[in-house]
Amino acid sequence: MFDRKDLLGLKDLSGEEIFYILRIAASMKEKIDKPPLRDDSLGKANVATLFYENSTRTRMSFFAAGQLLGAQMSDLGVSTSSVNKGESLIATGKNLDEMGVNVMVLRHQLTGAAHLLAENVKASVINGGDGANEHPTQALLDLYTVLDYKKAFTGLKVAIIGDVSHSRVARSNVFGLVKLGAKPVLSGPPTMLDRRMETLGAEVEPDLKKAVRDADVVMGLRIQLERQKAAAFPDLREYTRFFGVDEKILELAKPDALVMHPGPVNRGVEMSCEVIDHERSVILEQAKNGVAVRMAVLTLLLRNTGVVKEAGKWQFL
Ligand code: CP
Repeated sequence: MFDRKDLLGLKDLSGEEIFYILRIAASMKEKIDKPPLRDDSLGKANVATLFYENSTRTRMSFFAAGQLLGAQMSDLGVSTSSVNKGESLIATGKNLDEMGVNVMVLRHQLTGAAHLLAENVKASVINGGDGANEHPTQALLDLYTVLDYKKAFTGLKVAIIGDVSHSRVARSNVFGLVKLGAKPVLSGPPTMLDRRMETLGAEVEPDLKKAVRDADVVMGLRIQLERQKAAAFPDLREYTRFFGVDEKILELAKPDALVMHPGPVNRGVEMSCEVIDHERSVILEQAKNGVAVRMAVLTLLLRNTGVVKEAGKWQFL
């Protein structure tokens, strides 16, 4: 069961809530490829995206998700909005509330921005990534993809490699994986690792080979130059030499290990082109699963707030 007004992170969700969202996402996925199965179940809903940071996958897949279910989608267009005249996030949200927006999908550079907005607006708020804190729908689509292939989480070793300390994707995945019984192992340059993640149930292993050995999933992370206050490594070539995932490193993982990356990928930096395009790479499937997961999240939140009463042919479980 999942009966919240907002989706702000995986930290506060139970394993049961996560599984519930993944089950609904599975029932949504076939609508992506089969237009006759689409319905107008969110036809009365008004969904707005507020992206204070750049995005391709998250923003466009929320648009696709809403449109596939008949929602009215709009984008604030932050760079041309009154944010540039100094309007605050709360004032922006309160104005959108009065215009009848039912869901606000927020991406913001500041940790806690989504929580702040959610406390101050009537609409549901979905955290589309806040600073280095959380990116819950990314982790949900990652979990969906892992479950699709591995069928269960218990005991799975998930090696998460790269700029861990700046990664909201890594944090949300750690919360989710630990709750579902998997073992996240975090690796990268010591300057990009955060030992505090051990308190969340992750293993921190600076030795890349040890981290990848016998892994069921090898997940790369984007190097977030925009969030680094000081250079965390001498140069990109140096990073790739010691922490890039190439085919030789991948061979250390289990023979059926999945290759994942939230994107955008710096090809040849975090992962070699051969690994990105490997037959076991599910990076593009992750993008597709993101649409299904966001269809589920939009539907559930709109149901929870009473905007949607009837979900078309689809039954709430
Ligand atoms: N993975 C992810 O959040 O990608 P975007 O920044 O393109 O949304």
